[in-house]
Amino acid sequence: MKRRLVIIGGLILFLVSSIAHSQRLSGNTFLPPELMSLGKDEAANPLSLWNDQGHAIWEAKCQECHGKISSLATTVVQFPKWISNSTSQGRLLNLEDQIGVCLSRTSTQKWSNESNEVLALSTALSDTAKGQKIRIEGPKAKSEHEAWQEQMNLAAKIYVTRQGRLNLACTQCHDQKIGIQLRSDVISPAFVTGFPIYRQSWQTAGSIDRRLRACYSGVQALVPPSGSPELRALELFLKKRSEGMPWDGPSIRR
Ligand code: HEC
Ligand code: HEC
Repeated sequence: MKRRLVIIGGLILFLVSSIAHSQRLSGNTFLPPELMSLGKDEAANPLSLWNDQGHAIWEAKCQECHGKISSLATTVVQFPKWISNSTSQGRLLNLEDQIGVCLSRTSTQKWSNESNEVLALSTALSDTAKGQKIRIEGPKAKSEHEAWQEQMNLAAKIYVTRQGRLNLACTQCHDQKIGIQLRSDVISPAFVTGFPIYRQSWQTAGSIDRRLRACYSGVQALVPPSGSPELRALELFLKKRSEGMPWDGPSIRR
């Protein structure tokens, strides 16, 4: 087990460092010009609807505890965070999960990560964090580092493992076929610099979970449920690869 951890640890270092040496490009770089300008046009950008709704909910439900939404700007780029307490084992929480936790403080309802309220708040928070550098930290307690590292290892392994009826690994598209057209999309290096996204093919907004699940479904693999530990581990790994890149805020995709 130890030996396997070391090998996978080495693999992560290789993946992270080989990327550090090549140019790291945001998914925005792979958009056609008309979508690039749509992203910058506040009046026409469909995400403005979610952003406005998010600000309205913030003022009604979140402000009393947190103050101005911009006070959380630096925290947005640090998710997924490792959360632990004395009674439960540590686990990864992403921004949408945390929004759901806080929404439950204001009502008894259960909130799905793809619900309009969660996506609206996520969009508004993401928008205030534009330009912040992505910064992922491990758990504060040393004793939990191994558990956190195991999540990184798990994701690094998924990233290079072939799966689905098409028998393809993440790396085969996102490292080896960058810039190549796949149906209506152009494959990017899968840095995570701008979520939630409004995807034209969805005609609505979606979180990183929805995007990752679409990649599983694209290779006809078993799709992990929204919020599953596997998706959180992948988000951690992908954000670690994106460390130091500036946050684009909510983004338009094909
Ligand atoms: C068959 C090729 C293929 C495979 C395999 C694949 N993806 Fe994707 N992925 C795409 C395409 C196409 C897109 C949309 C265009 C883009 O942004 O790259 C995408 C988008 C993404 C994005 C969003 C990037 C952005 O800026 O919007 C992430 C993150 C991502 N994939 C991660 C993964 C992970 C993790 C895996 C493995 C579990 C995976 N992908 C497997 C084709 C693939
Ligand atoms: C009753 C007080 C309260 C309300 C209302 C509240 N929160 Fe929170 N929020 C907290 C506390 C306490 C934390 C610290 C983490 C925890 O205990 O969940 C937190 C943490 C957060 C964080 C992570 C901050 C960090 O530095 O990691 C985000 C993001 C957040 N809240 C968003 C929201 C949103 C969005 C709303 C409105 C739906 C909201 N909160 C409403 C109390 C509140």
